[in-house]
Amino acid sequence: MEILKDLTTQTIIERGKKVVMNTYGRLPMTIVKGTGSWVWDSDGKQYLDFVTGLAVNSLGHSHPAIVRAVQEQAKKILHTSNIYWIPNQVDLAERLVQNSFADKVFFCNSGAEANEAAFKLARKYAKKHYGANKHEVVTLENSFHGRTLATLTLTGQTKYQEGYDPLPVGFAYAALNDIEDLRSKVNQNTAAVFIEPIQGEGGVIPASIEFLQAARALCNEFGALLIFDEVQCGVGRTGKLFAYEWSGVAPDIMTLAKALGGGVPIGAMLAIDKVAAAFQPGDHASTFGGNPLATAVGCAVLDVMLEEGFMPGVQERAAEFRKGLEQLAQKYQTGDPVRGQGFMLGWPVSKLGPEIVEACLQKGLLINCVGGKILRFLPPLNVKASEMDQALGILDEVLKTIWN
Ligand SMILES: Cc1ncc(COP(=O)(O)O)c(C=O)c1O
Repeated sequence: MEILKDLTTQTIIERGKKVVMNTYGRLPMTIVKGTGSWVWDSDGKQYLDFVTGLAVNSLGHSHPAIVRAVQEQAKKILHTSNIYWIPNQVDLAERLVQNSFADKVFFCNSGAEANEAAFKLARKYAKKHYGANKHEVVTLENSFHGRTLATLTLTGQTKYQEGYDPLPVGFAYAALNDIEDLRSKVNQNTAAVFIEPIQGEGGVIPASIEFLQAARALCNEFGALLIFDEVQCGVGRTGKLFAYEWSGVAPDIMTLAKALGGGVPIGAMLAIDKVAAAFQPGDHASTFGGNPLATAVGCAVLDVMLEEGFMPGVQERAAEFRKGLEQLAQKYQTGDPVRGQGFMLGWPVSKLGPEIVEACLQKGLLINCVGGKILRFLPPLNVKASEMDQALGILDEVLKTIWN
């Protein structure tokens, strides 16, 4: 069996097109190696990585704590079933509970699965406590919650839903940061309200504190559960361990994935005790969920992020980087302001977004574009000041030639 090693990017792409399903609009490149904020393609070219696997490699690539956790766990045991207790899973759940609003954790393998679990728990809880009619879910326009049938229905963007109907029923969509619209959609049949504290795929758009407070009040009034999807904005991305901490509004359920495993697949659904109690043995499960490898790495990731000074450092560097982006936005008069929180930043640049991404790629900087016109920056949380300067320098050079 020939191994895809030491082949040119072109050969890999040609072979891939023959055997890998065509579900992604991929850039014509591969990434085969990484260390810190840097990655290399299979032709040996080096790039500064401000995409981090879409907010996954938040401690950069080959972080020693993650490498150690993988190696040590691989030598002990990789997987056991959830029909037994898994010590690493308990360790990770304790870390999450001790550092959040939550009391209990369910582990799975991805963001979509975490949201699917949250959706199922909310319906189970609502039916148990309020009866069969309380099954509706309010979610937001422009949101993104995953690609399973339930989570793409939660996703308030029809482009992800087309061709998959009939979809699950009982969903209403409200406009982000429109309190009146949200109020008109929540009623006594609402089981849950799903919100990303910062919409990621929708264009890096933060929910306002007033909107989150209003959502909390409405959920309290109607006995609905407030669910925050922190799959992208959670686990340190915004400069606090969880994005909701910036607002002071705590949800009843929160979903995590991406950065929690630092590159090893993991998802988690956290809930307060009263809500978590709606799940009993047999109600929900996942073969791989919270297995010894994934949870060993999850513990390693959180241990680094919980070190004293780590989050203030993220906040400081992110503020510096944001200032740099704002200066460029000012210099080139790009229009709408840079937005987001911490190292989850969006820069509206009109329809030139994809061209800017392509030009940055040529110059060795990986960034990404959402909605065709918002540049999205998701650098490693431990990126160096000199690397941020390099990224800003490349952006300046690119805009000099592309803008106007
Ligand atoms: C906010 C949010 N929720 C859910 C998901 C789905 O996560 P996954 O692709 O791991 O299923 C994503 C993925 O981008 C996301 O950004």
